[in-house]
Amino acid sequence: MLIRKSNYKISSPELRLCPPPDRPEYAFIGRSNVGKSSLINMLSGRKHLAKVSGTPGKTQLINHYEMESTERAGGPLTRWYLVDLPGYGYAKVAQQKRTVWGTMIRDYLTGRQNLQQVFVLIDSRHTPQKIDLEFIQNLDQAAIPFTLLFTKADKEKPAVVQRHEAAFLQELLTFRQFLPRTIITSAEKNMGRDEVLDLISAMNKAYYEAV
Ligand code: GTP
Ligand code: MG
Repeated sequence: MLIRKSNYKISSPELRLCPPPDRPEYAFIGRSNVGKSSLINMLSGRKHLAKVSGTPGKTQLINHYEMESTERAGGPLTRWYLVDLPGYGYAKVAQQKRTVWGTMIRDYLTGRQNLQQVFVLIDSRHTPQKIDLEFIQNLDQAAIPFTLLFTKADKEKPAVVQRHEAAFLQELLTFRQFLPRTIITSAEKNMGRDEVLDLISAMNKAYYEAV
């Protein structure tokens, strides 16, 4: 996939105010500071598209980015949305906003008709965290399809990243029968970019063939 254009569109405080659901959409979510905005920048190829910050809790709204891509030079343009969601689990954010499955996120994830896939970001430097597992249980209960992206892989040795990935999947097997797709990423090193974009490309194709 070649990204031809990526632009910030709008930040919405609730589902009702999101842009019309007229194209396939992909949402990125995970703990505060896990690297959502950095990953969106890596995918778009634009360093400053989404705001990156050392201060957790930066992203508080549903942020839409409009994307245009082609499969080959000169090929037809495909339009889709990338969405940066607020991180969960940040202690300094008010209690009501902090719940893993806050009202805004729940309404968006369960009600957004054009949402094709949720990318759940997991920090590859850590052993399995309860809050991430809880979030995934909620996704499963709502039958929302997702892919796991392990982030910041440049910060640890590959063996450590693999060990953390395996441990996380092992935890998932305690409450679900099948394992989700996983991709190891690093926004710093552009790792996993082609894999994520290929996946989005395949889902875009399926979406536009069905309409
Ligand atoms: P919130 O919006 O606050 O929830 O955070 P976020 O998940 O959007 O994280 P963000 O992209 O702002 O990154 C948080 C911090 O991690 C920043 O200091 C980034 O530079 C750093 N970071 C993100 N991705 C990577 C990565 O792949 N490698 C390294 N080394 N650092 C990263
Ligand atoms: Mg962010």
